Amino acid sequence: MNAAGVFVTGTDTGIGKTHASVALLRAHRANGHRAIGMKPVASGCRETPEGLRNDDAEALIAASTPAPAYALCNPFAFLPPVAPHLAAHDAGVGIALDPIVDAWRQLSARADRLVVEGVGGWSVPLSDTLMQADLVRAEECLQDAFATDVRPAIRDWRAARGLPADPLEAFREGGYLQKITAARATRAASPSSYA
Ligand SMILES: Nc1ncnc2c1ncn2[C@@H]1O[C@H](COP(=O)(O)OP(=O)(O)O)[C@@H](O)[C@H]1O
Ligand SMILES: [Mg+2]
Repeated sequence: MNAAGVFVTGTDTGIGKTHASVALLRAHRANGHRAIGMKPVASGCRETPEGLRNDDAEALIAASTPAPAYALCNPFAFLPPVAPHLAAHDAGVGIALDPIVDAWRQLSARADRLVVEGVGGWSVPLSDTLMQADLVRAEECLQDAFATDVRPAIRDWRAARGLPADPLEAFREGGYLQKITAARATRAASPSSYA
């Protein structure tokens, strides 16, 4: 049976996808679900004795119950923090759908909920012929994940914790945008990750 899932994407890297994915996993766990996070493609990894490791994938694994094997959470991992199709080309690897869908199915059998974090923005190319958006279009289970409306679940979760009902208004009032805009204006030209 396929777990219910969501696909977390956005306009770019650094816009809160991991933050939101980890929050969703915690919310699912708090509601008694077995919830697993997945980062199908990641560039910007560290070399470890066990292989390449990406911070986002590790954050998702840490927030997952049960914790998935690294290779199932992140089937395509690349060292340099550059766009994934360039990193894959440099590594001599072709990013393909089959290993991603296969990992999704294996994780799906172990969880009630899956949270899939995309790499970079929605329109990121993964290879000469594959766009990130194709991941979602490829498989019914991923289409379901993309089409699932999590707003009612998030509304209930926020209400249960006494959080402001409108997160965008809280975000605007919180001053985070001004803070991050100022930080970005002074940040070094070379990014440390592209995830
Ligand atoms: N709503 C938010 N409030 C405060 N900090 C945030 C928020 N969203 C993201 N961040 C912070 O911004 C940075 C980038 O977020 P992240 O989730 O890693 O982005 P992405 O996964 O899209 O690259 C992180 O340090 C994260 O903790
Ligand atoms: Mg991320």
